[in-house]
Amino acid sequence: MTTSASDALVFFGATGDLAYKQIFPALLAMVARDGLDVPVIGVAHAGWSVEQLRQRAHDSVAAAAQKAGGTLDEAAFTKLAARLQYVDGDYNDAATFVQLKQALGAAQAPLHYLAIPPVLFGTVVGGLKAAGCADGARVVVEKPFGRDLASAQALNRTLHAVFPETSVFRIDHYLGKEAVQNLLYFRFANSVLEPVWNNRYVDRVQITMAEEFGVDGRGSFYEGVGAIRDVLQNHLLQVTSLLAMDAPIGSDPAALNAEKLRLFRAMRPLAPADVVRGQYRGYREVAGVAPDSEVETFVALRLAIDTWRWSGVPFLIRAGKKLPLTTTQVMVDMKAPPLSVFDAVGAPQSNYFRFRLSPQVVLAEGMRVKRAGETMQGEPVELVARHHSGAEMSPYERLLGDALRGDNALFTSDECVEAAWRVVDNVLDHETAVRPYAPGSWGPPEAAALAGDEGWHDPQPEATPPC
Ligand code: BG6
Repeated sequence: MTTSASDALVFFGATGDLAYKQIFPALLAMVARDGLDVPVIGVAHAGWSVEQLRQRAHDSVAAAAQKAGGTLDEAAFTKLAARLQYVDGDYNDAATFVQLKQALGAAQAPLHYLAIPPVLFGTVVGGLKAAGCADGARVVVEKPFGRDLASAQALNRTLHAVFPETSVFRIDHYLGKEAVQNLLYFRFANSVLEPVWNNRYVDRVQITMAEEFGVDGRGSFYEGVGAIRDVLQNHLLQVTSLLAMDAPIGSDPAALNAEKLRLFRAMRPLAPADVVRGQYRGYREVAGVAPDSEVETFVALRLAIDTWRWSGVPFLIRAGKKLPLTTTQVMVDMKAPPLSVFDAVGAPQSNYFRFRLSPQVVLAEGMRVKRAGETMQGEPVELVARHHSGAEMSPYERLLGDALRGDNALFTSDECVEAAWRVVDNVLDHETAVRPYAPGSWGPPEAAALAGDEGWHDPQPEATPPC
């Protein structure tokens, strides 16, 4: 098992979209924060020179700075550019990897980031091994990890032929989000939640990942994926596991992983009747999308977790593009008091925990308090435990830094990724009809039925907290 820090960072797909949008900005932030004192080697087959790659890196970080409303840290960029090397070549050609070996020089423990389509993983890891670049190395791979259970198992076999599981880092950037880590922290750093975190007190759980935008600019990628593969199998089931797992016996990766895995295994595989798929009107006109596409841009589902803790508690999860706003929110609704002593006219149940995971970070609890006056009548209030803008270290900076240090706590294991595919494997393609919905709505009307009489909590724009 490799435990020391990596001494070089290699990223395949250096001229691609992921490198442009995420990797260069993360590298720049790492240089600015703590130096990032290892060689950074981009690999691609584009016929580029290292100067062209540096220019691309500059364009990327300048665009990221502009998007964030800040200014580019040119001094940090100069340092990053000085560390940047480039290897150009075909991944099928052994000479590419020989060139990479030379570029690695004295490095003994490189980190290889495969920012490339999964169909190329086998070729690249084979090339790394043959050239001696895999010895003592780690490998980082992106989501979606496979297209279904069988392909994920095949990918795991491909990676394990060259790298032990302890050296494989499967990225799910949701796990690098501050708010998602806070969910785990909040649950297990406080004893007050544990007594009520079960089917005796929790009525139901809802998770909504809403995005106001559509898939313009990535139509052909999205056509091959759809909402279930793009965000449900990974981001939202990971959030569910952190929300519902039992307390780990420690904070080390193995302990966390063991509890997450138990929880994933207790998720009942979804059947078509548990799922509503939707597609926003106008999706079929997006470049790269088939005119008769049946791919879902929205999914809503009712998940059961078969444990003593959660039996009977529905986990209602939905995600979609072109919804009314962009936010991810978890609502844990508590049961009504067993006897209504006050508010005889039937106050709505208003005990809940609310976790807003993006774009802001909010931890809040809904309660009822008595209104001033003679009668014992109340009103709902929300106690906000945490509220901030969410402008912390980006998930990619956090996860790349962890991978370079060899810390795999925030990465998904082979067993967890396969267990998550097992949950969705029966509903992945066109087992259910895809229902149209209007852009700017909360998805197709059929999704409402899944939530029963109480309906969905539609997240609202977050109010600015009082100073
Ligand atoms: C990505 C999906 O993994 O996550 C996108 O491919 C989605 O479709 C994105 O928009 C959401 O992540 P974030 O961090 O921007 O909320």
